[in-house]
Amino acid sequence: MCACSADTPCAAIARLCARLTSRNSRTVALPSEPRSLSPCIRDSYLVHKMKSMQRATHLRLIERLRADLPAGGAPAPVAREARPAFRVAAARYLDAGHHARERAAMFGGRGAGGLPRVIAASSALAAGACLPVDLPGLSLIVTRGADGVVRAVANACRHRGTRLVDAPCQAKALVCPYHGWTYDLAGALLHVPHAEAFAPGDSCSLPALPVSERAGLIWLGDDIAGIAGYLGGLDADLAALELDRHVVWRSRRVTRRCNWKLIVEAFLDAYHIRTLHRDSIYRFFLDAASIMESVGRHIRAVTARRTLREAPVELGGSDLRALSTPSYVVFPATVIIVHPDWVSVIPLHPRSVDETDFDHLMLVPAARAGDTPHWEKNWSLIEETVFQREDLWVCEQAQRGLAAGMVDELMFGELESAVRPFHAAIDDALARSPAAPPTGA
Ligand code: FES
Ligand SMILES: [Fe+2]
Repeated sequence: MCACSADTPCAAIARLCARLTSRNSRTVALPSEPRSLSPCIRDSYLVHKMKSMQRATHLRLIERLRADLPAGGAPAPVAREARPAFRVAAARYLDAGHHARERAAMFGGRGAGGLPRVIAASSALAAGACLPVDLPGLSLIVTRGADGVVRAVANACRHRGTRLVDAPCQAKALVCPYHGWTYDLAGALLHVPHAEAFAPGDSCSLPALPVSERAGLIWLGDDIAGIAGYLGGLDADLAALELDRHVVWRSRRVTRRCNWKLIVEAFLDAYHIRTLHRDSIYRFFLDAASIMESVGRHIRAVTARRTLREAPVELGGSDLRALSTPSYVVFPATVIIVHPDWVSVIPLHPRSVDETDFDHLMLVPAARAGDTPHWEKNWSLIEETVFQREDLWVCEQAQRGLAAGMVDELMFGELESAVRPFHAAIDDALARSPAAPPTGA
């Protein structure tokens, strides 16, 4: 038996590794022994004691995980007899009409915010800051006024539509570069050069979009005043992360050629870690050892790290983030992953049925933001390797496989059971939306 897997013969592992390496040549091969990692990466996974979800919740889930761990390193068993696989029609990932109904029901656009989703981190917006945010169907300027309040207005001049802000900046007013119409940071029109050329009713302010701050994040959504109620049981989890004391160390948006649900589903299963992430992060995690639970329409998950096997019986003084990795899907499409000493916030923005914008905000504790080599290593491993070269690469491969028309449906087993409530929440959102009645797709 190999040291890296107790249940697979060495020769089989060698064949599998060779297949994976040739298949996914963009994957960076890293050593499988934690001892051989650079001190920087090793530290990030073992040392720093950070706050995570509400500690009582995290402890409850981690104890359940530990109770299910089999002795001797065998694969984690499925707790009960497997139900028939959950099946989702391939058309839900391919049909442009179905996608349009999903967009209308959940993602807004053309002046509407849709269901709540993260558009920025609070710390990215000091007083007087203006941040352009471009989403499919929406172009916004997010501002924080001298009163500390965050607002969002259309990033298009009411005169002849010119884009007002192109890059993050500090400003006392928004001045259109074309003819000089000037707005305050709340979008109210302050000044029109040669105003006598327009009738009084002609000039007007920039349309506002509903945004709110919660848990150190800025959220966009039609019913944003009720964001705490929308988050429900996750509100306390997210507050415990103290993201208001974090800064965006780096962020990136990449448009990938796959349906948005394929990406959410990739974050809802720990089943793939052993295969897809064999050369990157499997060394940190136990095989298929994850607990996921519905919290309203959202999902809370905890995935066991290998360190959990050596954890003391009494976990009272333990750093729980070193023993397991919490993650969340805030419905419909914001993924949050709680690494040992930093947090990935990943809003997904569907662009079309087979194109999705993947935003990744790397939030690190403000007090440690200067630890550049450490964060560079983490960004390289998680964003560039795990997310881009592995998770998103395989989502595009799934989209290609579905588009080829050779399968009519996807199947999800018991180790992917969180996909069931995710699709139930989508069906519910479609049913509630007058613009988007459910279909048989
Ligand atoms: S387009 Fe903005 S002032 Fe004319
Ligand atoms: Fe993954």
